[in-house]
Amino acid sequence: MQPKTQDNIYKAFIGEAKAYFRLLAYAEKADEEAVPQIALLFRAIAEAERVHATRQLNLVKDLIVKDTDTNLEESFQREKSISENEYPDFLKTAEEEGEAAAALAFSQARDTEGFHAKLYERAIMHVIKDEVKAYHVCQVCGYVTDKKIPKKCPVCGAPEEKFKTIGS
Ligand code: FE2
Ligand code: FE2
Ligand code: FE2
Repeated sequence: MQPKTQDNIYKAFIGEAKAYFRLLAYAEKADEEAVPQIALLFRAIAEAERVHATRQLNLVKDLIVKDTDTNLEESFQREKSISENEYPDFLKTAEEEGEAAAALAFSQARDTEGFHAKLYERAIMHVIKDEVKAYHVCQVCGYVTDKKIPKKCPVCGAPEEKFKTIGS
């Protein structure tokens, strides 16, 4: 593929992916303001932008999606980098600026990305057995475990009802 078009597809993909989440937030606002038809409109367009994002991602898929061993390794490196570099920096600035809610979000994200990295690392080391086992994801902070659902999330303290199971 020609480099400029490739670059544009990637940019378009990022834009559409952001629009998806933005429009879902707009839909929630419309619900709060009791304008249900507008909420539906935002949800419908969000779904359409998700279609666009997926279509564009597919056009550059060979660039982004590699074989599973490589994808695991890249995902591990990203989690490690974000938990060791970006989030600690973001946290420091949020604390300096007295932004408590952002500081909490960044510190919990930093911690959970560290756990994500460990899960990838174990998959890379082939610690995962052949059995297919469910994961449980905290819907407050993003902590993930392949063990039992904890009574309280070890990162944010959320109760067990806040966990969503992926797999069965
Ligand atoms: Fe779109
Ligand atoms: Fe992560
Ligand atoms: Fe949590």
